[in-house]
Amino acid sequence: MTPFSRRTPGSFHPNALAARARALRESGAPLIDLTLSNPTAAGIAYPEDEILSALRDPRSLRYEPAPKGAPEAREAVAAWHLRHGARLDPAHILLAASTSEAYSWLFRLLCDPGDAIMTPRPSYPLFECLAELDAVRVAQYPLAEEWGWRLDLATLEARLDPRARAIVFVNPNNPTGSYLHPEDWLRLQEFAALRGLAIIVDEVFFDYGWTAAPRLSSLAGPHLALTFTLSGLSKTAGLPQMKLGWIHVAGPEPLREEALERLEWIADAYLPASAPVQLAAPRWLELAPLIQARILDRVLSNRDALESWLGPASPWRLLPASGGWTAVIEAPRIHAEEEWALRFLHEAFVLVQPGYFYDFEREAFLALSLLPPPEEFGEALSRLERIFRSV
Ligand SMILES: Cc1ncc(COP(=O)(O)O)c(C=O)c1O
Repeated sequence: MTPFSRRTPGSFHPNALAARARALRESGAPLIDLTLSNPTAAGIAYPEDEILSALRDPRSLRYEPAPKGAPEAREAVAAWHLRHGARLDPAHILLAASTSEAYSWLFRLLCDPGDAIMTPRPSYPLFECLAELDAVRVAQYPLAEEWGWRLDLATLEARLDPRARAIVFVNPNNPTGSYLHPEDWLRLQEFAALRGLAIIVDEVFFDYGWTAAPRLSSLAGPHLALTFTLSGLSKTAGLPQMKLGWIHVAGPEPLREEALERLEWIADAYLPASAPVQLAAPRWLELAPLIQARILDRVLSNRDALESWLGPASPWRLLPASGGWTAVIEAPRIHAEEEWALRFLHEAFVLVQPGYFYDFEREAFLALSLLPPPEEFGEALSRLERIFRSV
């Protein structure tokens, strides 16, 4: 008998791939990490002076707690979204220390212990951990691969957990880079409203679209169901270290007002985002288009390199995608994805993520970060050449 709850894992042993990568790194092997998700470690040029000088606001010297977040920061978030045509009321926005924390608040708002949230698969791997920490279960619904990873309501309905309280959707999804489809959005709203479910849409990668095609944000109505849209500085301004995320609350009244009141109560218990960061956020959001352009440029150049390197006749298939920071390739099924990833590591010192990391329903997918510097990305591809051409 230990004094610990079951919310933390019983074992912290890394899996075979992570253990092998760590051993190689420690032995000084020239590892290229194509799992990189941290833009500040990718050699992107940031406007450093402007970022730092935004922190020198004398108002930071006074503590003036505001549970929903500093009004000027919430106004800046509303102004940010107006650039994309969404007219938001700052009163409907709450600031948290990150999107991850925002998830936790929403799980506490919507779920009692043992209730469930419906999460897509494949998708962002942190849902399960975040939910378990709040004594909430995750029930998964598969996205429809054959329709470009669209939401399939019939499957969602078939998999609906009897204790589901909310449906999560990631727009665009990580790692498949697929955006919300307008038809699916309307039908999802009807589906959730009829069943009294909330909708949580994670739009952290929304601005990283790869084409000029129009993209639908969940900030656009109709909001028949209680709808929470999440984003934050981590991806929007490429500043994960600054720790600022936000939640926009939409939905029919009086449900929305009640949700806001209860969320404010949760936020008041933590008062998590730091004052200097909140006061700097308006300036950082002004810098965000520049930072985004540099990150997007990087992502697209690596994606182009990968596409032309694989070529159309390759038995390796680059999955079509429309946005985000990741490329997914389907590997020939002569090996399981974990074996491919181990081969990449042993034979080329290149680290990638096997699809199971994102809970792909079938084999054999590998996810490659498009963030690394182009020289490193190109070097990884040339090291992988022999393995790629061997099938
Ligand atoms: C889909 C998705 N949501 C949220 C996050 C985390 O965001 P934050 O740093 O604001 O917690 C990530 C990080 O990679 C992500 O991929």
